[in-house]
Amino acid sequence: FAPQILQGKHVIVTAGGTRERLDPVRFLTNDSSGKMGYAVAAAAQAAGADVTLISAPTRLTPPEEVTVVSIQSTTDLADAVLARFPQADALVMAAAVADFQPLTVADQKIKKTADNDELILKLKKTPDILAEVAKIKKSQQVTVGFAAETQNLLANARQKLQRKSLDLLAANDVSQAGIGFNSDDNQVTFIQADGTSDQTPKTSKRVIATALIKRLATILETK
Ligand code: PMT
Repeated sequence: FAPQILQGKHVIVTAGGTRERLDPVRFLTNDSSGKMGYAVAAAAQAAGADVTLISAPTRLTPPEEVTVVSIQSTTDLADAVLARFPQADALVMAAAVADFQPLTVADQKIKKTADNDELILKLKKTPDILAEVAKIKKSQQVTVGFAAETQNLLANARQKLQRKSLDLLAANDVSQAGIGFNSDDNQVTFIQADGTSDQTPKTSKRVIATALIKRLATILETK
């Protein structure tokens, strides 16, 4: 039975990979299964928090008694987070958010033509949700990000922590087999706002989520 270190706190968790529509039957997405975000939602709930899980499509069953908000695109996710963040004590962004979305969405299915061997897709940047959240964040609110990196893990993650004004960031090396996207396990380096960092062993996402929630509770206490 977990200690109720988040009793009375409202925590928003995002999970899964956003989908960016190309046409009525196709979309761009990524390999996120939602496992990491769902584990964080379960850990926050076990710690006594009132949890809102904003989820992209996944195959997972959400933890009981968690409020689930289903979204598809990065724009949907941005709207859902920005509408709820003002009433929340903390936000954990575990979702794998698309950085680009199609410039236009075709009304009808895109067709092959006999004279066309190539199709060029034009993409535009999506809104950076954590950067938008940083603009409205109050001093007592806590924001936690993940950084999915394939190179220069620490340097890139530290930049993300600063750019997005985060209190805590969990950096995972998604180029390594057996951790990161879709695995049951993960290994993260936690980076705090003061720049200090420490690495977890490779372990289950459940254990990583519990460690993250403990840190989040400690940061909330000191605010
Ligand atoms: O879902 P699983 O299969 O369990 O996999 C877990 C995971 C690998 C997806 C997860 O651990 C993880 O790393 N999630 C973050 C993925 C990601 O989008 O990382 P990023 O480095 O591109 O973004 C950094 C942070 O900014 C993230 O917290 C992200 O949610 C957020 N972001 C990103 C883009 C954007 N437009 N807005 C954002 O707020």
